[in-house]
Amino acid sequence: MKRILVTGGAGFIGSAFVRYQLRTYPDVHIVNLDKMTYAGNLDNLRDLDPNRHTFIRGDIADAAIVSSAMEGCDAVVNFAAETHVDRSILGATEFLRTNVDGVYNIVETAKKLGVQRVLLVSTDEVYGSIEEGSFKETDPLNPRNPYSAAKAGGELLGRSYFTTFGLPVIVTRGSNTYGPYQYPEKVLPLFVTNAIDSEPLPLYRGGEHNVRDWLYVDDHCSGIDTALRKGAPGEIYNVAGGNERENMTLTNKILELTGRDESLITLVADRPGHDRRYSIDPGKLKALGWAPAMPWDNGMELTVRWYQENEWWWRKIKSGEFKEYYLKQYGNR
Ligand code: NAD
Ligand code: TYD
Repeated sequence: MKRILVTGGAGFIGSAFVRYQLRTYPDVHIVNLDKMTYAGNLDNLRDLDPNRHTFIRGDIADAAIVSSAMEGCDAVVNFAAETHVDRSILGATEFLRTNVDGVYNIVETAKKLGVQRVLLVSTDEVYGSIEEGSFKETDPLNPRNPYSAAKAGGELLGRSYFTTFGLPVIVTRGSNTYGPYQYPEKVLPLFVTNAIDSEPLPLYRGGEHNVRDWLYVDDHCSGIDTALRKGAPGEIYNVAGGNERENMTLTNKILELTGRDESLITLVADRPGHDRRYSIDPGKLKALGWAPAMPWDNGMELTVRWYQENEWWWRKIKSGEFKEYYLKQYGNR
């Protein structure tokens, strides 16, 4: 694989994946197509070698631009998505446009151009909530919020291109990801940056004991890379961190690492349809040689320190568009 199209490569995981490819494979060239929504950020891509990374601003729902970006690529890895559950509850139009129509454009264009590998980055949320045990790739889907429903739609459409047209589509379903450069609407960077400023941490009441499985961002990238290079066309691979934690445990860890106390915890009205527990079994990907490398304690320390040392990155985000969203989301609670 010499030339890879990465879509959504200016976001949190996509930009980490671009850096991962460039440092792991000296011969690879990345074409990075990103619409630059509120979540896209060129600060995430600073210092990349322009001879090995081409950035194009554009929408995956725009067939012409997808076609010109994909021309000459051996593979495409799609990260581009509307990604926040809470925003999908406020309105889902963009979620359908990007997470379904956008994916349709990608597979349709890949079919026309004969691309060798199409990897669709999906989420453990497509399975829905599970009380005990862990989902396997063969389990039925039960997405329960507009974000995960749209992701499931895009993924199913993509996989239909494997069965119908033989397009070599691979799907990965990752668990909750954390690390540097995550947009501060998601719980971890929101709580860390609020704690740094001694601002309240809006923990969903009733969801304090909900469980997420935390996956360090570079481990998610190596998992996607393993599926891309060693996975079989038409297959699905779960990518899990193996670090299931209750939201309250995560919150306490953040308070400990930022030197703040519990008085910052503010219980707010619960998220409608709040999934209680996500859990997936990554055994199939592990059989290809992948394993997560980052222990949770180290990953948390490293991540919190990164937000402490990189206020330049998140302060301008939190004072911009984000402020308006935050008021809409939490202002009345
Ligand atoms: P993010 O919100 O940080 O970044 C999304 C990126 O996609 C942004 O750069 C944005 O500008 C771009 N984008 C959005 N709409 C676009 C469009 N129509 N055309 C082109 N670019 C567009 O998201 P993230 O957390 O990095 O997630 C990346 C992918 O991983 C998503 O597909 C998401 O569903 C999946 N995922 C995320 C997690 C997680 O915990 N963050 C877990 C599992 C799977
Ligand atoms: P989030 O980061 O939005 O990811 P997802 O919903 O995709 O798992 O939320 C993670 C967990 O944290 C989820 O159980 C909801 C909870 N949460 C809060 O309690 N307060 C918040 O402000 C946010 C954003 C999330």
